[in-house]
Amino acid sequence: MSDHKYINYSSAKSVTDAVNTRRSIRAFTDELPPMNVITQIIETATRAPSGTNIQPWKVYVLTGETQKSLCAAACAAFDDPENKHQIEVSYYPEKWIEPFLSRRRKIGWDLYGLLGIKKGDREKTHQQHKRNYLFFDAPVGLMFTIHRDLATGSWLDYGMFLQNIMLLAREAGLHTCPQAAWSDYHKVVKAQLHIDPSEVIVCGMAVGYADKDAIVNDLVSHREDVSEFVRYLG
Ligand SMILES: Cc1cc2nc3c(=O)[nH]c(=O)nc-3n(C[C@H](O)[C@H](O)[C@H](O)COP(=O)(O)O)c2cc1C
Repeated sequence: MSDHKYINYSSAKSVTDAVNTRRSIRAFTDELPPMNVITQIIETATRAPSGTNIQPWKVYVLTGETQKSLCAAACAAFDDPENKHQIEVSYYPEKWIEPFLSRRRKIGWDLYGLLGIKKGDREKTHQQHKRNYLFFDAPVGLMFTIHRDLATGSWLDYGMFLQNIMLLAREAGLHTCPQAAWSDYHKVVKAQLHIDPSEVIVCGMAVGYADKDAIVNDLVSHREDVSEFVRYLG
């Protein structure tokens, strides 16, 4: 099965098409999507279910100078070797076990291999990782927060909301990259965007039109065969 069937830059025509053509895009053109389209996507995404209809999401839509200032501050923090940022909520396990470790390594090697970045080339790896803090040049950056008093279930609801946004973006001919990288610099993000201490950064998301010429966007991530994780009982 060729992974290339998932590379499609036009608008998704069905839910299946949106799901299949959503990929994490890591290079965008500078074309600004109409703001009413972004607003419509977010509004429709709120139809996501949430336990007892809590609707735990809070979204900051970042463009122009605000986005630029945030990116400059985050890049400076990322480049500062003295700047020891502590994460607030762990997205990844402290101890990696199989099969997750191998999957994580594969996507890393595939990404850096595609870009010609050799294993151990710390400077190039740093520069590529830093592109997270430029929203991969996407003209729209979204920042998602959640109230710190909410429980794990609300994070589950949040994932559904985020997926809705990514699928609706495909319908609008847009692409996205969800970015946990932003939560590593939650102090910088909160200071720049004047976010209340009661909120926790869930993640960021780059939104825009994919740069079709960028090699990095040729990356198609692998999925395990359903036989690996589905058991039909009864
Ligand atoms: C919540 C979340 C956070 C993520 N954070 C990052 C990130 O910080 N930087 C990045 O380049 N990709 C990030 N990703 C993208 C994953 O690497 C990607 O989803 C995975 O490799 C599968 O590839 P695909 O999205 O292209 O299908 C994130 C994905 C999710 C769901």
